[in-house]
Amino acid sequence: CQSILSNVAPVPVGVGIFVLRRWLAGGVCRSKARLDGKTVLITGANTGIGKETAVDMAKRGARVILACRDMGRANRAADEVRKRSGNGNVIVKMLDLASLQSVRALAKDVQQTEERLDLLINNAGIMMCPQWNTEDGFEMQFGVNHLGHFLLTNLLLDLLKKSAPSRVVNVSSLAHETGKIHFDDINLEKNYDAHTSYQQSKLANVLFTRELAVRLKGTEVTTYALHPGVIHTELGRHFLPALPLWKRLLFLPFFFFVKTPWQGAQTTIYCSVNESLQNTSGLYYSDCAPKEAAPQGRDDTAARRLWDLSASMVGLA
Ligand SMILES: NC(=O)c1ccc[n+]([C@@H]2O[C@H](COP(=O)([O-])OP(=O)(O)OC[C@H]3O[C@@H](n4cnc5c(N)ncnc54)[C@H](OP(=O)(O)O)[C@@H]3O)[C@@H](O)[C@H]2O)c1
Repeated sequence: CQSILSNVAPVPVGVGIFVLRRWLAGGVCRSKARLDGKTVLITGANTGIGKETAVDMAKRGARVILACRDMGRANRAADEVRKRSGNGNVIVKMLDLASLQSVRALAKDVQQTEERLDLLINNAGIMMCPQWNTEDGFEMQFGVNHLGHFLLTNLLLDLLKKSAPSRVVNVSSLAHETGKIHFDDINLEKNYDAHTSYQQSKLANVLFTRELAVRLKGTEVTTYALHPGVIHTELGRHFLPALPLWKRLLFLPFFFFVKTPWQGAQTTIYCSVNESLQNTSGLYYSDCAPKEAAPQGRDDTAARRLWDLSASMVGLA
């Protein structure tokens, strides 16, 4: 009897793990929407969920622009996207979000060479890096995750409006829930903390999405912020190697339960193509469904204040 039990016990355990993994994988975008004749620009698309999003957009027939900072990695990713999607209309453009000059150069290039822009997916991100500054002297995570995308979006608004109905999708994070905008020390110079900085930048993504929707009312350009889930990507590259070995070993079982990049891309894809979202704007999504953002992500006064501050920091005011 004991030997029968030991033979069958692994079955329910295996089924349990399978069900748990499926549940943790979250929603899947079921929309069959085609994007033939449309143009999609994705920042940080050479790896992680950005690359998976690019494959999906290309499979739907879009012209896909991978906007990346490392041209070697970007070209290899573009080859893979073309191969996996069967769509040759995938191109690479240089973008370093840690440089306002690079953001302006990309926007100018896109304005001059692209006839339309139907989807801008602000996906690139950096998490929990040391206290670094961008080329323009801004704290790195706020600079890359928020300010670079803020400027890029504003510079591409005319093209987005011309191509309407069009969408701006901002990849934020659950981390916004514990975030705060430090208006009195936006670069966290007084007391830098890598986690606090990431939370601030992801809250900024949610507030930017909200205020942009207000400013774009009536234009048929709609905006979306989202949490993609917890995904096995390169995002931990700055903080994981800095941990002592025993802490890294503690993280190992955790990787078994996180999403794959394909699963992690689903909410971005949902916000980008799902037909039912066409007339909603400024909201937050998770697991391919609407979700209420944290109270500080629904603060319209803070959203306006952040917009004004960001505009003056990037020279748009
Ligand atoms: N993974 C998660 O669990 C998770 C959870 C919540 C939210 N997110 C968000 O999801 C988004 C995508 O992250 P991921 O998980 O796919 O991470 P990833 O694998 O590290 O990919 C990040 C991408 O951003 C690019 N990037 C970083 N700094 C840049 C800069 N200065 N200029 C241009 N591109 C830059 C990277 O380019 P290089 O390869 O050249 O560095 C890379 O292509 C991020 O916004 C992240 O905050 C991820």
